[in-house]
Amino acid sequence: MRDYREFLSEILVDEATLQRRIAELGAEISRDYAGVENLLLICILRGGVVFLVDLMRHITVPHMVDFMAISSYGVGARETTGHVRLTLDLQTDIHDKHVLLVEDIIDSGYTLSYVLDFLSTRKPKSLKVCVLLDKAERREVPIPIHYRGFTIPNKFVFGYGLDLDEYYRNLPFVAVVDLEKYTPSS
Ligand code: IMP
Ligand code: MG
Repeated sequence: MRDYREFLSEILVDEATLQRRIAELGAEISRDYAGVENLLLICILRGGVVFLVDLMRHITVPHMVDFMAISSYGVGARETTGHVRLTLDLQTDIHDKHVLLVEDIIDSGYTLSYVLDFLSTRKPKSLKVCVLLDKAERREVPIPIHYRGFTIPNKFVFGYGLDLDEYYRNLPFVAVVDLEKYTPSS
């Protein structure tokens, strides 16, 4: 696997800026959910994991975590089409829980739209969305976002949980890929 520097276009959100904003989001969530019983953070695998583990350490309200996975199909790996399918279900019964969905990035909105519809059918006590990165100009389906880390331009990004063909999720910052220099499986 190549060193990411070979196809790095720019660092869009550096580590210190990410961590500062995540601490703010954690404080805001802690204020909003103060005294709430049965708070459950739901993370969508795999991109949201890095964000979740940093965010939860800034949330002072006692809470649980659970994970679900979905896959998108229809077009290439870099776009969703609205054809989204559940590949890993939750272990937790959410009907009596206050659910906060934690996601890495929202682009067209199809993924979150599917997940929110799916979770709503199970009648949680409340359902809110916390997303780290919002590619707002790409939105095709309106999604209520209660907590947003950063609004970003329409560029393909990687790092901090987001992958390029499953690699580079470990990078502590969000970077833009130079698609002219990056070829999959190189
Ligand atoms: P949406 O369904 O179009 O909103 O896309 C959301 C999903 O597409 C995210 O959960 C990511 O998995 C993926 N995605 C969208 N944009 C990017 C990106 O710039 N880098 C990595 N993954 C992305
Ligand atoms: Mg994702």
